[in-house]
Amino acid sequence: MIVEGKDYRTIWMEKGRVFMIEQNLLPFEFSIYESDDYQTTCHAIKTMIVRGAGAIGAAAGFAMAQAFQRAPVSGFLPYVEKAKADIENTRPTARNLFYAVEIVFEAGLQSISKAVDAAQAIADKDASDSQAIGNFGNHLIKPGFRIETHCNAGWLAFVDYGTALAPIYKAQAENKSIFVWVDETRPRGQGARLTAWELNNAGIPHKIAPDTAGAWLMSQQKVDMMIVGADKIAANGDTANKIGTFEKAITAKTFGVPFYVAAPTSTFDLLCKSGRDIIIEERSDEEVMYQTGVDESGILRKIRVASPGSAAINPAFDVTPAEFIAGIITEKGIIKPNATEIGRLFS
Ligand code: MRU
Repeated sequence: MIVEGKDYRTIWMEKGRVFMIEQNLLPFEFSIYESDDYQTTCHAIKTMIVRGAGAIGAAAGFAMAQAFQRAPVSGFLPYVEKAKADIENTRPTARNLFYAVEIVFEAGLQSISKAVDAAQAIADKDASDSQAIGNFGNHLIKPGFRIETHCNAGWLAFVDYGTALAPIYKAQAENKSIFVWVDETRPRGQGARLTAWELNNAGIPHKIAPDTAGAWLMSQQKVDMMIVGADKIAANGDTANKIGTFEKAITAKTFGVPFYVAAPTSTFDLLCKSGRDIIIEERSDEEVMYQTGVDESGILRKIRVASPGSAAINPAFDVTPAEFIAGIITEKGIIKPNATEIGRLFS
């Protein structure tokens, strides 16, 4: 994406250093975070400096490559094995993270340069898959469509271009006069902060909608389709995505709004038979209790927004059963969410 006149990927690696867009500061500040070692890259994943399925996958692959580069000659294997476990412990739900770590680990056992090449190939494939998803998904979008999306599955969440937003970018490029409803996506506000920033940057008409407005908007026939991303897709099509997605899918089914998931094949986990096998990340209740934003003088502040003395629950994801999903838009085409069509993707 072009930001301030320069073409950026969200994450990249150069000479052992990993560079990533600092997503916690967006939309208020655009800056690049740098990491010299796998531990710092893990910190960036855990604290959501880098976030989103594909971007986390690329970060994890680069972190694994950094570990191979830094591993001491004596104790090489224990060092890289510990690094693998440390990286895998950063975000438990993101399938792309485990996918990338496994590939780069295997490559690194052959040579350090193979680890670096494998990590780069994962990042490059993520970017090209997003373009393909955009092309397939664009066929579903009719001129004038009003599309709702949840969380951020755009350029920021991948290495380039995104998944749920990729068809929207392609439709915009073809002047289809589309409009996007952006769910704010509490508690961290990835919709209000990140998707809105991306769409602003791309000049795509949109409005941020409170998370609670979905049923109202759909009941008023103001939504033509919904597209969301995915953090993990089970072998039967059940899909884990940002908390709140399941509620939207139920609402979409109630009002006859087609509900699509956009994700590359690297997000599928065939070892998970169904959504019941997906581990859901629990995040700190601080994210519910506090909000961060800028005040009227432009100073970044964290303020408490919930009653002191109460605790909160904060599951980061939920699982939408396959029966609520009209189709999954992948880099290989659009499939129905069932074991037969998913199996065919990998045959
Ligand atoms: O917790 P996050 O922001 O890393 O959430 C993951 C996501 O970005 C969303 O669930 C998204 O919709 C999936 S695809 C990037």
